[in-house]
Amino acid sequence: MSAAASPLRLGILLSGRGSNFLAIADSIRAGRLHGVEIAVVISNVAEAPGLDAAQKLDLPTALFVSKGRKRADHDADVIACLQAHRVDLVCLAGYMRLLSPGFIAAFPHRILNIHPSLLPAFPGLEAQEQAFAYGVKVAGCTVHFVDEELDHGPIVVQRAIPVLDDDDAESLAHRILAEEHLAYTDAIRLVASGAYQIRGRRYVKRSS
Ligand code: GAR
Repeated sequence: MSAAASPLRLGILLSGRGSNFLAIADSIRAGRLHGVEIAVVISNVAEAPGLDAAQKLDLPTALFVSKGRKRADHDADVIACLQAHRVDLVCLAGYMRLLSPGFIAAFPHRILNIHPSLLPAFPGLEAQEQAFAYGVKVAGCTVHFVDEELDHGPIVVQRAIPVLDDDDAESLAHRILAEEHLAYTDAIRLVASGAYQIRGRRYVKRSS
């Protein structure tokens, strides 16, 4: 009998509320993500509710306050922590910091990000408000591999929803968030399967 494959160890990086982190944790607990575990949750903001939530779940946590520090110095601490926890896949879950080239090089095609728009539309801050103000009829979210540009690398999963006539920016953001929680689990499952290739900017399933 062959030994069971060792679990894929996630390192979650967050700066705030942490609802995407909690959705991932819930998917693992509920058996929707087999062979995946959370190795560590790292915040760059001391007051992040997501950090508190991780502690309450008894997960390993770390805080590296980024404010006032050079990006490369801060990232070196985060990389060392991820490596110490033997992280295979880094998941940015509302981590509001651009990663240094050294960070990306340390985890090649091993960093995912979630963004609340259908990229390449509306990168950056307050994407849902940007989409609403623009008057788009379809909105959504994207999970993508991270490269050196903001909200930019190869796309793994997108989920789209219609913008309703009676939406406001808040109701739209709320409905997009519900899609984010589904999309992140789907993307982690796809990456954990290993059955894909990255061809240029394109993530494609590998035929068996
Ligand atoms: C989410 O909407 C996520 O897509 C967004 O921050 C929010 C974090 O919420 N990320 C970005 O805008 C990245 N450019 P959460 O803390 O409840 O997961």
